[in-house]
Amino acid sequence: MISNIIPYGRQNITKEDIDAVSVALQSDYLTQGPKIAEFESKFAQYIGSKYAVAVANGTAALHLCTLALGVTEGDKVITTPITFAASANCVKYCGGEVIFSDIDPLTYLIDIESVKNKLSTAPIGTYKGLIVVDFAGRAVNLEDFKKLAEEYNLWIIEDACHAPGGYFVDSKGNMQNCGNGNFADLAIFSFHPVKHIACGEGGMITTNNLELYKKLLMLRTHGITKTSSEFVNSCSIAIGDKPLLKEDENIYPGWYMEMQELGFNYRLTDFQAALGITQMDKADNGLKRRKEIAAKYEKAFEGKSWIKTQSGNVEGHAYHLYIIEVDKRLELYNFLKTKNIYTQVHYIPTHLMPYYRNQGCKMGDMPIAENYYKGCLSLPMFPTLTVEEQDFVISQIVHFFEG
Ligand SMILES: Cc1ncc(COP(=O)(O)O)c(C=O)c1O
Repeated sequence: MISNIIPYGRQNITKEDIDAVSVALQSDYLTQGPKIAEFESKFAQYIGSKYAVAVANGTAALHLCTLALGVTEGDKVITTPITFAASANCVKYCGGEVIFSDIDPLTYLIDIESVKNKLSTAPIGTYKGLIVVDFAGRAVNLEDFKKLAEEYNLWIIEDACHAPGGYFVDSKGNMQNCGNGNFADLAIFSFHPVKHIACGEGGMITTNNLELYKKLLMLRTHGITKTSSEFVNSCSIAIGDKPLLKEDENIYPGWYMEMQELGFNYRLTDFQAALGITQMDKADNGLKRRKEIAAKYEKAFEGKSWIKTQSGNVEGHAYHLYIIEVDKRLELYNFLKTKNIYTQVHYIPTHLMPYYRNQGCKMGDMPIAENYYKGCLSLPMFPTLTVEEQDFVISQIVHFFEG
């Protein structure tokens, strides 16, 4: 028996992280300062996108994406029911309508055939966009979704919260990193403690679209710009409606700024960004360790009739989660808890949440997702999980089923 609790996920905070936060706290900037730009550029480089915008959390990132893409009253947006509720909620924040589409039973990702079926049986223009999720760290094949999006004039948001460092291989054999902006209009990440990169709270939006990037920067800070080339008011309004000399026409006073859109305060702090930067230094090793842990689980469960795991080609999987499906899920969950192993369920299908039931969703709407939910369980998966701890988890699961 291992005495300490083994959770399903855990952050890895080291001395470098603590030192970096401490330095940032002693600087002149507590809210957005130079560490934000440094974090954004390091993240964009890691992911392979042109632009990155740091925000307060993944939910704020999703909200800014739906705002920037102009989601409005009644707009229909398709997403998966097997994700954290925020992937759908961002549509509701803007008054849009969430249309759930079922998952693939092998990959647990949104099923392109189910999406195609929805699109092809409705008049063109019925749907505005798609929010796909690299669930558990497994990359959605965005090349396929992009073709569909072009055919039906849809935008794509990639919720890549689970998949920094993940990728899929495109039809030309190229690795396409999750969130690299080559296929989706916008992608988002979360820096919640159990994620690959932890900031406590934090999020990032990546894109290759300059217009959207500029819009996101503004929406992140109340819809305000301080860049004179973007001002729409004349210089005389800026000064207080005084007539100006011709040569002063474009000299805006230092205090001047404009609120051009209805934005929010979704900024990340500089000390969180400092943490994000040092966390990124560990990202590659963390990913490597996650893959090792997954491979060990796979090997241990190979050929066991009482278990099913996420199958198919798992190249590029970032393993935020390691999910199994079993028949006696509740019994196994409770048994493991008595052994100090705290597994988790990802996720209760969003369409079955009381809020979405009140909007008309019901049991039976998404049979594959609902069937997946009956048996899914996330096992401990985090880079600092020790070999001894993983051996213990495996032995207890095998013991539960085989005695
Ligand atoms: C798939 C997914 N999307 C969105 C979010 C929201 O991120 P945050 O918790 O940073 O707001 C999460 C976080 O748990 C998530 O797992």
